[in-house]
This record gives sequence, C-alpha cells and structure tokens, in this order.
Amino acid sequence: MGSELESHRIATSDDIEVSTYLELAKELRGEQAVVEPKPPGERETIVVIDFGSQYSMLIARRVRECHVYCELVSYDTPWDKIASLNPKGVILSGGPSSVYDAGAHLPLPYIYESHLPVMGICYGMQAIVFQLGGQVSSGAKHEYGHAILHISAEDCPLFAGLPPSFPVWMSHGDQIMEMPPDFEALAYTENAPLAVIGNDSSVFGLQFHPEVVHTPQGKVIFQNFVLQVCGCQGNWTSANFIAESIDEIKRQVGNGRVVCALSGGVDSAVTATLIDRAVGNKLTCLFINNGLLRREEPERVLKVFKRNLKMDIVYVDAADRFLERLQGVTDPEEKRHLIGNEFIEVFEEEAAKLGKVDFLAQGTLYPDVIESASTQTKVAAKIKSHHNVGGLPSNMKFTLVEPLRYLFKDEVREVGLALGLPEDMVWRQPFPGPGLAIRIIGEVTQEKLEILRSADWIVMNETKRARLYRQLWQSFAVLTDVKSVGVMGDFRTYGYLIAIRAITSDDAMTADWARLSYDLLARISDRIVNEVPNVNRVVYDITSKPPSTIEWE
Ligand code: XMP
Repeated sequence: MGSELESHRIATSDDIEVSTYLELAKELRGEQAVVEPKPPGERETIVVIDFGSQYSMLIARRVRECHVYCELVSYDTPWDKIASLNPKGVILSGGPSSVYDAGAHLPLPYIYESHLPVMGICYGMQAIVFQLGGQVSSGAKHEYGHAILHISAEDCPLFAGLPPSFPVWMSHGDQIMEMPPDFEALAYTENAPLAVIGNDSSVFGLQFHPEVVHTPQGKVIFQNFVLQVCGCQGNWTSANFIAESIDEIKRQVGNGRVVCALSGGVDSAVTATLIDRAVGNKLTCLFINNGLLRREEPERVLKVFKRNLKMDIVYVDAADRFLERLQGVTDPEEKRHLIGNEFIEVFEEEAAKLGKVDFLAQGTLYPDVIESASTQTKVAAKIKSHHNVGGLPSNMKFTLVEPLRYLFKDEVREVGLALGLPEDMVWRQPFPGPGLAIRIIGEVTQEKLEILRSADWIVMNETKRARLYRQLWQSFAVLTDVKSVGVMGDFRTYGYLIAIRAITSDDAMTADWARLSYDLLARISDRIVNEVPNVNRVVYDITSKPPSTIEWE
C-alpha cells in the first residue's frame, strides 16, 4: 500500500504534499516512516485511534466483546507505542471535527504505511477519504438517527453472516461525495450513497456507528473486522488474562510485600484475589470499616476473604473515628474531604504496623486510566471530589500494582467469576467510597445511618426479588433532610422522607432513571414506611444524569 500512497496525495489539515509529509513524519519520529508490524505470537491488539468521539470507549468495548484485546489511544500516539502493542488492525473513531476545520486532527501516516487493516467510523471514514484523495462535502446533508443500510457488495468480509439490509445509526454532518482512487462502494442508505466503502488493502470506511446499540448488527461487523479481516484469534479470555496477569504480578512483586485495601466492591475483590493467587503469602489486605457501609457488608467481606479464601486480612473497625469527624458537618464537599482524609490516616497507621511494605494494590479500571489521561489535557469543571477507597496520597512510598488497569467493568466481573468469587460479590452494584454519608443529606448520625441501612436493605431485596438488581447500574435509598406530616393508625406522624434512586447506565458518566414498575415501587414504599421507624413518606427520583448526578451529594 505504500506505493499506492505515493501515487496520490495525502491531504493534511495544512495540505502538505505527501512526500513532504512523510519526510516530516520521519523527522518527527526519528525513524523510518515505513515500519514493519511486530511478529505474531504475543497478545494481539486492535488499536482504536481516538479523534474525540463520545463513543470511542464504546468501540473499545465492542472489540473486547469479540475476545480480542484492544487499546484506545490518542490520535497523536507515536508509532513506537502502537508497534509495541502487536497491532493486528486499526479502528479510527468518529469525532466532533470536520476534516476541513483548521487544525483538524488527522490520522498519522503510519496508519496507511503499516499495511494493517483499517476501519474508519464516521469522522474516521471522512479522514481516510480526505487523506487518500477523495472528496468530503462539508455540511451538505446532516443526518442523525436511524437509517436502513443496504449491502451492495455481498462478498465483502465485513458483512459476512448479515442480511441484505439492516438498521444502522447515523450521526454526521459531513458526507462522502467522491471515493479515493481504488475504493469501491460496498453499502448505501437512502441519504448516503457511500455509506460503506473499502479497497483491496482492507481499508474500510463506515459512515454509520456500528458501536452503538441502535445498530443492532454492529457486533457482527466488529467480529467480522477483527476476526476475519484482521485475522485475530479471539484469545482474549478470562482464563488467558488470569494466567498472564499472575505471571506479570509475580514478575513485578518478586519478593516484595503487597498491601491491598478491600472495599467490599468487585474491583478490589478481584485485585486482591489475583494477587493472592500470584504471591499469596506476600499479600496483606486491609479492610477498614468506616461505619458508612451497608447492612451486613463487613461480615460478608470477612466471610468471603478470611473464612473462605483464607487470605491474610487485617480488619479495622474505625466507625467511631469517622462518625466523630462527621459530627455537625452538612456540606457535601466537606463530608467527602473529611472521609477521604480520615481514610488515608487510618490506612497509613495500619500500613505502618505491617512493617516494610513495597507495593500498594489498586483496583484501577481502564475507563479511569483513559479518563485520567484525557483529563490531563482537558480543562474540566470539578463537580464532586471523588475519594476512591484506593485514592491514597502521592507521597506514600509504594509502587502501585494495578492488575485491572486494562479491563472494563464487565471483564472484571467475568474474571471474578472465573476466579471463583461468589456471584453476590461479583455482581454487587457500585458503591461510593464515602458510603452512606453522601446518601444522608445533612449531618450524618448513628440514628440516620440505621434508618438508611434499613431502607437500603429493602430496596436491595426488592430489586433482587424482581430480578432487576443486575440490570440496574445502581438502586438505592437516600435519606433526605426533609420531614413531613403523615398519619399512621389514628395518630399524626412527623417523619423522614426517603428518596429511591434507580438508574441504568453503561459507565456512570451518563445515566437514565429506571422505569421501575408501579407495583415494584409500591412494594418498596409500603415496606419502607411499615418497617423503617421514623419514615412516613417515600418518593422516586426521576431525573437522569445529566443534569443530575447519580449520588445526591
Ligand atoms: P455521580 O454521583 O458523580 O457518581 O454521578 C458516578 C458514579 O461514581 C460513584 N461515586 C463514587 N465512587 N468514590 C467512589 O468510589 C466516590 O467518592 C464516589 N462518588 C460517586 C457513584 O456511586 C456512581 O456510580
């Protein structure tokens, strides 16, 4: 494909002639512009190049669902980094720009020079067309929403196993007017005659978004691209991950000592279990009970890890310390800071008692890694301070062990099950580090904690009984600081107002309130007002995120 490239121009945002562009790229990277892909045999990777689409992370998840490893990297990542991943193919994400915008980010030349199969989605497709000599029209026909894709090239490997027509999701301003030389039209919609294009070198462009749920056949397209076109084996499985991860932890930790803070959540549970498998006797887990946990949570964690898995666990009951600190505090941010700081203090004290510790294990996940990489370059307003249980100060002298840093949440759950952790723990809904304190509006007291625990228990039981617990991202009770008048028997009551929050979400960045049935809401409400003392009214929170957040504080 290199020679094809030299026969026509790659347009860049600065419209530099191809030869100049390649020379420039060589100079910048200080290496040959044409680099051979690494030999197969290592973990194979699909590289998703991010041009700023809101769906980029979703593309990565779709690839992983095909049991193929992938990484999401910024558009300006140097070839060295890409080559080190043993790439088998490249996906160019969509993005908010037009290729004609001044300074629009365009694929670097190695995308075409590496001989790897390429699939450009939306903006990614427009960039391919623009760079390889086709024509993109700016803003001629905006298209947002459902469309029907009709396949015109039945033998195209991207469409293997698909019907001749199927629904797809469009969301674009610019459109392809003319294909680059040597490309052919592979599929069309009513408004986009060139909805899918491709050439003999396995460079494809898709105008629609196969990664979103509104393209129900999108998963097949990803499978076809990564397995058939790129020739991946599909060997990214829990079993392989566990084996690789155990080797890697052994290599990293050696004879060092590791400490891991357990929170009761799935991420720290899987982290600890993996490290235990790798270097069992070098791991000590700290389980700090901050008194802000849900009913039976401490007992459950101890039962699983101490009694069943026989891990070395130090249990610290610090409930009184946290409650004392929270006395009289009503401001949400102040609560978060106090809890975070107290956690760090307790952790440091307990870690010091263990003697020399070399490593700190954290259950960091891939979305956190991607987000922190992108927030380093973005100016974002702070909505809330997040104190993850593992969010420890940078001056602590530990090296981090983060075996989950390339996993998505659903992959962590799969690994947890493969490691033999109980389903209850693996499927536990996310729970914030500051715990029930940010679900009690106003001052946190022992009495309020008990009220909230009882209400929360009922919400959990009823959503489980309705078989909705796993489908909901989170479902919980909030104790508001509103009191209202009610009547029970023949008596006036003046009791607390409990709000129920149940949401669906993919990643907690956005969320929709769950359309729970009236019957289920009625059962939850009846049980709460009957079983929880001092509560006489229940409301349901019907706001999505944005504009609300998931937690109330
Ligand atoms: P918000 O309220 O910001 O929450 O929409 C998004 C997700 O993050 C969880 N959350 C936290 N998790 N420490 C955590 O570990 C925190 O301080 C924290 N605050 C919110 C929240 O439960 C939701 O899943």
